[in-house]
Amino acid sequence: MIKGVFIAGTDTEVGKTFVTAGIAAGLMKKGFSVGIMKPVASGAVNKNGKLISEDADFYHRIFNLDDDYNLINPYCFKAVLAPGVAARLEGVSVRFDDIKEKYYKLLDQYDILLVEGAGGLLSPLSEKLATNADLAQELGLPIIIVSRSAIGTINHTLLSLAYAQNVKRLQVLGVIVNQENDRKSTLAEKTNCEIIKEMSGADLLGVIPYCKFVKDINMESLNNFFLDRIDWSIFGYTS
Ligand SMILES: Nc1ncnc2c1ncn2[C@@H]1O[C@H](COP(=O)(O)OP(=O)(O)OP(=O)(O)O)[C@@H](O)[C@H]1O
Ligand SMILES: [Mg+2]
Repeated sequence: MIKGVFIAGTDTEVGKTFVTAGIAAGLMKKGFSVGIMKPVASGAVNKNGKLISEDADFYHRIFNLDDDYNLINPYCFKAVLAPGVAARLEGVSVRFDDIKEKYYKLLDQYDILLVEGAGGLLSPLSEKLATNADLAQELGLPIIIVSRSAIGTINHTLLSLAYAQNVKRLQVLGVIVNQENDRKSTLAEKTNCEIIKEMSGADLLGVIPYCKFVKDINMESLNNFFLDRIDWSIFGYTS
């Protein structure tokens, strides 16, 4: 079974957190212990006087993770910028060796660890402008690419796949196409997945529709929503 997966995206706000949570809920329901990490985050918010990543906070809340917050999200920036740009502005050094150490600490405690990137695959995470792809490479992780279902996604998804596979030589487990807003499904949505498959040869691991109850989601409803929509065989079982 895969021990760790890097959940990358074709862009920010494509649904990496939602999909990561859905995968985590499904795996937990199957009896696996699952850890989640958001190594670098930006656009952080103030909660009880502490700057926190909304993604890390979401995971904490939904899954009652009892890991030290600093392990789940070692680097967090306030500015609504790519984290690497925010790191430069704040004069912070984002050290991948530090992230790696924390990653291994968490990995030790779980059957599987899901690592959510920040922004798109090529968004810079460090002040030296090392990207999500560089971090996945550093951690030796296979990746899943979450992409939008809407028009424009063929180009974004194929470029992300080509970069991951041909430039960074990352193992790509496949693509999950996600409808992150409730616009009406168009012809593009109905045809994009097949075209991405045909043009890239990548495995389509899931097609996730808009979820009407996203604001009140919990572990149980996440599991039900994702159960028949993900190809769980990459994790070693079928739904
Ligand atoms: N399938 C879906 N149905 C309903 N809402 C969704 C769906 N996917 C994502 N969303 C919503 O869209 C917004 C963006 O999704 P999400 O936070 O998962 O994106 P992200 O790629 O993790 O963004 P970031 O780059 O900030 O980490 C969130 O409000 C989320 O709840
Ligand atoms: Mg996110």
